Amino acid sequence: MKRKNTFSGLDRQREIYLPGISGITPKVPIQYSDLQAAAKRAMTERAFGYIAGGAGQEHTMDRNQQAFASWLLQPRMLSNVATRDLSIDLFGKQYASPFFLSPIGVLEMAHRQADLAVGRAAAKLQIPYIFSNQASVEMERTSAAMGASPRWFQLYWSKSYELVESLVARAEACGCEAIVVTLDTTMLGWRPRDLDLANLPFLQGKGIAQYTSDPVFQKLMQEEQAAPEGPKRRLTFEMIANIIRLLRRYPEPFFTNLTSGRPLKAVRTFINIYTNPALHWKDLAFLRERSKLPIILKGILHPEDAKMALGHGIDGILVSNHGGRQVDGSVSSIEMLPAILEAVQGQVPVLLDSGIRSGADALKAIALGASAVGIGRPYAYGLAVDGQAGVEAVLKNFLAEFDLSMGLVGAKSVLELKPELLRKA
Ligand code: FNR
Repeated sequence: MKRKNTFSGLDRQREIYLPGISGITPKVPIQYSDLQAAAKRAMTERAFGYIAGGAGQEHTMDRNQQAFASWLLQPRMLSNVATRDLSIDLFGKQYASPFFLSPIGVLEMAHRQADLAVGRAAAKLQIPYIFSNQASVEMERTSAAMGASPRWFQLYWSKSYELVESLVARAEACGCEAIVVTLDTTMLGWRPRDLDLANLPFLQGKGIAQYTSDPVFQKLMQEEQAAPEGPKRRLTFEMIANIIRLLRRYPEPFFTNLTSGRPLKAVRTFINIYTNPALHWKDLAFLRERSKLPIILKGILHPEDAKMALGHGIDGILVSNHGGRQVDGSVSSIEMLPAILEAVQGQVPVLLDSGIRSGADALKAIALGASAVGIGRPYAYGLAVDGQAGVEAVLKNFLAEFDLSMGLVGAKSVLELKPELLRKA
C-alpha cells in the first residue's frame, strides 16, 4: 500500500510566518516547555499531574531528555536537498513519515473529544495512531472517525486471556495494522504526583472504554461477585459528584445506570483483571496463534530482552520506558538504542519513544537506526490546548522540523539518515 507524503516544512513555516504580518501568532506554542505550560493552564491539576508526572523522583523522565542532548548532529553541506522524501517502509507497508502516535490512555482528561480528536488529526497527517488499551473512546468509534488512515492497537495483557483474544479480534476488525503489546506495566508504577492527589482516573470510570464496550468484559462483569462490605465512608460532596460522573460516563442511559449498579461493577471488574504481573515470555505464543498482524513489544530496554523477543517470533521492538512513568532511575530509551540494534542485527524493525520533544530529537533516533519514532506527551498537550486543531499543530511542527533538519544535515530521504551524521557530545 502506497501512502503519499506531501508534507513540506517550508509550507508549514509559511503557514505560521505569513499571518504574523497581521499580528497573528500560533495558538499552540512551538517550543515544548511553552506547550507544556499552555497545557497546564488548560487542564485541572489532577489531569496535568496525571499526564506530566512520572515514577518516583522523575529521574528517568529527566534522563529521557538529557540523553537526547548527549547526541549531536554533524550536518553535511552541498547535497542538493531541494526534494525530500519522508516516507518509510515498515512491516511490508509504506507510511508517509517515520512518526507514530504512542498510545496515551485517559485522554478525556486533556479534552472532552479525547481519542476522536487525536484520531482525526492523525488521519489528516497520515500518521499511524496507536489506540491505547486505556482509551477514553472505544476503538470502533475512533476508527470510524479516521477513515482509511493507519492505526495500530496497544494491548495491556489482562488477567483474562479471553478478553485479550476479544480485544485483538476487535482491533483486527477495526483495520488496525499491528498489535503493540506493552510489557512494562504489569503493575502501575509508583507515581508521586497522582499519589499526592489520590488520583487514579480508572476509579472514576475514566479510560476504560475499550473494556465497557467489550462483550467478554460484559460477561466478566456479570460473573463478578458482590463487593465485600468495606468500612463505611462518610458521604462527601466530592464522592457524590464522582458517582454522578461515573454514571454519566457508562455507556447506558443515566437512570438505568442509577438502578443497575453496572458502572460500579465495571470499575470493580476492571480493577480485578487490569494488570497481570504473572505474564511471561511463553504467553506470547497465545497471541501469535490468534493474530496474523505484526506483533510489536513495547517497553524493551535490555539487549537480552530484545534477543528473547526475536526468539519468540516477534515482528518488531519498541524501545521505551513509558515516558519515565514506570521505573525511576532507569536507563533512557535513546541510550539503549545502539545496544538493542546491535542485538537485533536488522532482523526486525526497532522503534523508539520516550523523551522525543522535537523533530530534531526524532531525527537523531532515526539516524541512530530506529525505524520509526513515537510522539507521546507533546500531542496530549496539543489536545489540551486546542483539541483536534491543537494535535494537528503539534504534529505539523514535528513533521516540519524533521523535514527541514533532514535537508539541513544533507539527507534527501529517511534512508539517508545514518549514524555517521551523529557524534557523542
Ligand atoms: C502513556 N503511555 C502509555 N503507554 C501504553 O502502552 N499504554 C497506555 O495506555 C499509555 N498511557 C499513557 C498515558 C499518559 C498520560 C502518558 C504520558 C503516557 C506511554 C506512552 O505510550 C509513551 O511510551 C510515552 O508517552 C513516551 O514518553 P514521552 O515522550 O511522552 O515522555
